[in-house]
Order: sequence, then C-alpha cells, then structure tokens
Amino acid sequence: MWGGRFASGPSAIMREINASIPFDKALWRQDIAASKAHVAMLAAQGIVSAEDAAAIAGGLDAIAGEYEANGVPENWDLEDIHMVTESRLAELIGPAAGRLHTARSRNDQVATDFKLWVRDAIDQADAGLQALQVALVTRAGEHAASIMPGFTHLQVAQPVTLGHHLMAYYEMAARDRSRFADCRARLSQCPLGSAALAGTGFPIDRDATAKALGFDAPTRNSLDGVSDRDFAIDYLMAATQTSLHLSRLAEEFIIWASQPFGFVTLPDSLSTGSSIMPQKKNPDAAELVRGHSGRIVGALTSLLVTMKGLPLAYSKDMQDDKVPVFEAAGLLTLCLAAMTGMVEGATFRTERMRAAAELGYATATDLADWLVRQANIPFREAHHITGAAVKLAESRGIALDALPLADLQAIDARITDAVFAALSVDASVASRASYGGTAPEQVKARVADARVALGLE
Ligand code: ARG
Repeated sequence: MWGGRFASGPSAIMREINASIPFDKALWRQDIAASKAHVAMLAAQGIVSAEDAAAIAGGLDAIAGEYEANGVPENWDLEDIHMVTESRLAELIGPAAGRLHTARSRNDQVATDFKLWVRDAIDQADAGLQALQVALVTRAGEHAASIMPGFTHLQVAQPVTLGHHLMAYYEMAARDRSRFADCRARLSQCPLGSAALAGTGFPIDRDATAKALGFDAPTRNSLDGVSDRDFAIDYLMAATQTSLHLSRLAEEFIIWASQPFGFVTLPDSLSTGSSIMPQKKNPDAAELVRGHSGRIVGALTSLLVTMKGLPLAYSKDMQDDKVPVFEAAGLLTLCLAAMTGMVEGATFRTERMRAAAELGYATATDLADWLVRQANIPFREAHHITGAAVKLAESRGIALDALPLADLQAIDARITDAVFAALSVDASVASRASYGGTAPEQVKARVADARVALGLE
C-alpha cells in the first residue's frame, strides 16, 4: 500500500517489528464503524458516488460478519487492522474499495478507533464498579451494627462496624466512577478528518462523522487530533487508581481470612486448595487482584514513558499505546468481577470480629473520654488512668468492661458504676454518631443514600 517509492520489500525483521495486527485486531469493530461513518459522509458530501459508497458499506458489513464468525486474519504483510480490512474490502468489491481512504489517514483512523475502544472500556469499568458498589452496599446494610475492631497501624484502635468498613470501599468506588466519567467527557471529540496531520483539502463534514460515532464534536486541531493519547493515559490513571482500591480490599480479605484473624470465610468458588497441605484454603483470587494491580500500574507507566518526549504529530512509537491499555482493561474487568464475587460470597464471622474488638481494648478511648466528661479529669491524666486499667485487664485476659468496679476504683476512686455503659463496644460505636461516623444509625443512613444513588430504591 506504500510500495510505489520502494525498490525492495521490507525484510522479515521489518515486517515483524512493524506488524500491529496481532494486537490491534481487537479494534476491528471500531475500525469498521469509523469506516462506515466516513464513507457515508464522503457520499453525502459528493466526494464519492452513492453507488461506490453503498458497495463499500456493504463490503464492510460482510467483513464484519466474517470477523465475527472466523476472527481477524493475522497477515503481517498488511501490518495492521486498517490495512487488513481495506485489502479484504478490495477482494470483495474491487477497485471501489480504494475510494474509502479518501480524505483520511491511518493516523486519524487509529486515533478514532482507539478512542472508541477506550470509551467502551470506560463503560465496562463503570458497570463493574457499579456492581461492586451494589455488593458493598448490600453487605453493609446487613452489617450496619456488626462490631469489628477498627485499626490504625494494623493495631486495634477503636471499634467500628463492619458496615462502616465496607462503605469506605463504596466511597472509593464512587470516586473511581467519577474519574472514569471525567475521562469519558474529555474524550468526546472525534479525531477523524484530521487526516495524516494537517487536515485535508477535500470538503469533508467532520461534524457529521463525529455525530455518527457518538462524539460531541470534532477535535479542533488536526496535529493534536492525531497525536493525542491523553485519553488512553486518563483511562489508565483511572484504572490504576481503581486497581489500587481493589488491591487494598483484596489485602484486607487476605488478612481477615488468615487463621489468627478468622474474620471471614471466603467463598469456595473464589479460593483454591493446596496440593500438599490438605487443610489449606488459599485466597488466591484476592492475592491475584493484589498482584494484578502491579501490572495495571505497569501499563500506565509503559504508556507514560512511550509518550514522553514524542514530537508532534504521529510517531510509530504510538503503535505501542494499545497493548498496555488492552491488558489493563482485561485485568481490571477480571479484578472487579473477582472482588464483587468475594464481597457477595464472603461469610463474615461477626462473633470473631466482636471478640477481637473487645479483647483488643478498642474502647480504651471511651474510658478516657468518660473520665474527662463525667469526672472532670484532664485528658492526659485520664489517658494514664485508662492505660493502667488496660494493663490490668490484659494481665487477666479479659475485656475492659469485665473488670470488677472495685478493681477500677482501686486504680482511680472517681470511677463509678456508670462507666460500664461507656465501656461496651456497642456503646462505643453508638456514641460515634457524628456525620460520617461509625454509629449504626449513621451507617444505615449512608447505606440508604447509597441505595438511592445506585437506583436501588
Ligand atoms: N498501526 C498503526 C498504529 O497503531 C496505525 C497508524 C499507522 N500510521 C503510519 N503513519 N504508519 O499506530
């Protein structure tokens, strides 16, 4: 297709390094849609005849049928999906096929195809995140009052509710969805018609092709139109942030499923056994979600480094934009589905969680606060008194509220019977009713808001 000025054909190495068909065949649907929009516009503008345009559109439909049934043939000599499709079109309809490439270049063609592909990937990520949110909200609603230890430094800090903990991930997913929505809004300009880099002398209608392909408008600068890959980077940034959230959730499930914690039993369907240790049930899916986030970060890094320092407009380096995006999108879909399944199928061992909060002295802050409020003791002194009470309870292996009043009074005489109401883990979480706090009534209210936002109510 560019042999006119060459005396010899490419070497085997040139063919191999140049061929993108092994991976860009994934763009075939977008490529055919963009070609159909282009040829319809060319006909409407009188640039090609209605007859040729009809033959081209019919041929493209036939090719779509072939690809659907048999896959895309991988001919390295034809380089990429654009040339593979165009050459098949020539086989099917003859010389009229040669008119399809009027007033366009593979540079604006690939930019358009790739944007369309990324737009679909955004929609898929959003659907996956929404499903995860539904699972989180559902389980959070069931466990709005289930007590667990809240951690800082992975040390027991204060009691929280499991529903509150799960809703933290709902919020992360909400931000992830808004990042993908931003990315979708920003990619809404169509590069088609930018041609090789400078635009075209043909009287094309760029608004028509932009509209036909579901974009808001054409890109405003042809150099930018063919050389912009921000949309792919934006997508990978949003995917990376999402994968970090999934990795943190996966990590928590891994810790919670360990025997010393025993907070959760993972669904059998998302666990594996060991070939040597019969007792083992391993959280492999969660570990792979944690692992795959590294590959998604890697995909972002790869494209950032590819684009850094490229002069305007198109350079062939940009052909390497696709593999990282395709890989990250596949992994993200899988990881979202795995974590959604894990949240849905987890059996939470709420009695173990409650015991860990009680024996972890998670209500020590409540005792100190009680001393400040009820006995008017300065907080620093209250902190010290409480430390002594924790030490005593710990030495006996009992919860704070299991200490007899007499023993507490031996530590500080100002402690009265009324303290016990503040020492239970239930009283502790109920007291944290500030907006966004862990009190069950707050968690229920946030779950109710979320259910409305998700369209579940
Ligand atoms: N396969 C190429 C890519 O993915 C298409 C654009 C080729 N353009 C060119 N001038 N060689 O980027």
